[in-house]
Amino acid sequence: MKNLCLIPVAAIALMLGACSTSQKQTAATDVPTLKDAFKDSFLIGAAVTPACTDGIDHAADSLVSLHFNSIVAENCMKSEKINPAEGVYDWKDADSFVDYGTRHGMKIIGHTLVWHSQLAPWFPVDSTGKYVTADVLKERLRNHITTVMTRYKGKIHGWDVVNEAILDDGTYRKTPFYDILGEEFIPFAFECAAAADPEAELYLNDYSMASPAKRETYIRIINDLRKRGIRIDGIGMQGHMGMDYPDFDEFEKSIVEYGKTGVGVMITEWDMSALPTVNTGANVADTAAYNKMLNPYPDGLPEDIDRKWNDRMGRMMEMFLRHSDVITRVTAWGVTDGDSWKNNWPVRGRTEYPLLFSRSNEPKPFLNTYLSK
Ligand code: XIL
Repeated sequence: MKNLCLIPVAAIALMLGACSTSQKQTAATDVPTLKDAFKDSFLIGAAVTPACTDGIDHAADSLVSLHFNSIVAENCMKSEKINPAEGVYDWKDADSFVDYGTRHGMKIIGHTLVWHSQLAPWFPVDSTGKYVTADVLKERLRNHITTVMTRYKGKIHGWDVVNEAILDDGTYRKTPFYDILGEEFIPFAFECAAAADPEAELYLNDYSMASPAKRETYIRIINDLRKRGIRIDGIGMQGHMGMDYPDFDEFEKSIVEYGKTGVGVMITEWDMSALPTVNTGANVADTAAYNKMLNPYPDGLPEDIDRKWNDRMGRMMEMFLRHSDVITRVTAWGVTDGDSWKNNWPVRGRTEYPLLFSRSNEPKPFLNTYLSK
């Protein structure tokens, strides 16, 4: 369990269930929550791990159940996890994720059905390791999508059907799906998904969505799907950000332009690295200097960086609120800084500060504006 001393008293009371009735009432009514703060604007979500949904990580569990009305699976629904071999499904963590969201009345987001990364190795190849034919891959995609979606039919609010299909220059990423099926893999996946669960929302999801070339391609894909009568309900703009990206104006333009297509716009996977953007090619001869450059703040963020980070996050949040007419959900990629994937990406073992809650489970200062309203 994380450092309990630093968790707000009301949250501890909720976690342990060890308080008197009057204290419980105080906790229920007095703790300002993110889901209340944004209830008239959009859903507010977090990516969660099995440690949270199994109740092992009590701190994450208490923050998620208190503050968020939507969750997304950080890893447990990716094909390498849920469908590790042909015909073999591992439902354990995904079941626990869906049960957790159901118990808490949350909008549950499935992530992700078709993605080249964390792809089960068997998926695009035959027993000799060569790519399968287009027909075989279609069959495998249909089986995978249908099996996974059917298990959670009626429980999952929306699915990231296809993840990260387009490169920053607007061309298709050369993945096994693209290599074997060409551009048609996207419409095919959406058709399979719509047939498997007619009620679930279906999304495209990608990063670098401020890129004008990428924006143009996604708008073309959305329009093309609709013209062909294939359902798409939303576009997820992954919000992996840093201290020097994205270009705020272009990001905002993407929100507006995606919104004009008529599909819902979601800010997914929101986090903002507080560390300098890594230049792995940097020519730094001295190892200690190199490590310091990669991991400059192992003991906490300097005040000026912390202020700048909060300022940028606050400006982003204001941008999301300005466009709450088209933004349906804002989801953080994790809960507290200590749990973030950014501590290990793009370099392992960094101390990062990218999320909405600190390592001691406190909301970051930029959220105070909303939590005190
Ligand atoms: C990341 C997870 O957070 C890590 O735990 C995992 O090791 C790698 O994947 N884009 C996505 C997410 O769509 O699924 C990725 O999640 C982050 C980038």
